[in-house]
Amino acid sequence: MKNFWIIIFSIIVIGTGVAYAITQTAQSQQQGGFMDKKILVAYFSWSGNTKSIAEKIHNQVGGDIFEITPVTPYPSDYNETAYGVAKEQKDKGIHPPINNTDVTPYDIVFVGTPAWWYTMAPPVMTFLAENNFEGKTIVPFVTHGGGGGYTIDKDMVKLAKGAKVLAPFVVYSRGGAGVDKDIASWLEKLK
Ligand SMILES: Cc1cc2nc3c(=O)[nH]c(=O)nc-3n(C[C@H](O)[C@H](O)[C@H](O)COP(=O)(O)O)c2cc1C
Repeated sequence: MKNFWIIIFSIIVIGTGVAYAITQTAQSQQQGGFMDKKILVAYFSWSGNTKSIAEKIHNQVGGDIFEITPVTPYPSDYNETAYGVAKEQKDKGIHPPINNTDVTPYDIVFVGTPAWWYTMAPPVMTFLAENNFEGKTIVPFVTHGGGGGYTIDKDMVKLAKGAKVLAPFVVYSRGGAGVDKDIASWLEKLK
């Protein structure tokens, strides 16, 4: 009789362990296999679209989130920013000083930017150029006003020396009602 209870107890313990392992694997796959990696979601956003997508990605992949901000904020007026400061920075190749963070602890850095003058916004250029991305994986995401993602992922390769840059998530404005699903299927494909 004693042996019977030992066997039942063993079955319960082993069964629970197997169930736990299956749940963990399923969860890891659901989150793009990023579970065991240190993740940072870093983004710059002027009018909130890229911030919205960054938060949605962060909800799905976890890790830390960081807003890249220029030391000197852009004007709140669209024309002053678009045709003034941002255009000048783009034309002159200026990387404006930013309030930076250290990416050393992270394996995977999601990097979000609005499309600005056919490429990434200058503060994101600074972020990529001033940090050491050697051996890290960068996952770009781009919001735009109708022009698409341009060659922003390739531009990131040039700035973030030694990084592996994966396929970007590209979305108009802040996406539609299905944007969470779109993000999930993009993450799934990155595995
Ligand atoms: C300075 C500036 C330049 C822009 N250049 C482009 C562009 O080249 N192509 C495009 O499709 N949209 C362009 N846009 C629109 C933004 O990419 C789009 O509205 C984006 O979603 C804004 O993101 P945010 O709200 O995170 O700042 C530009 C906007 C600004 C302010």
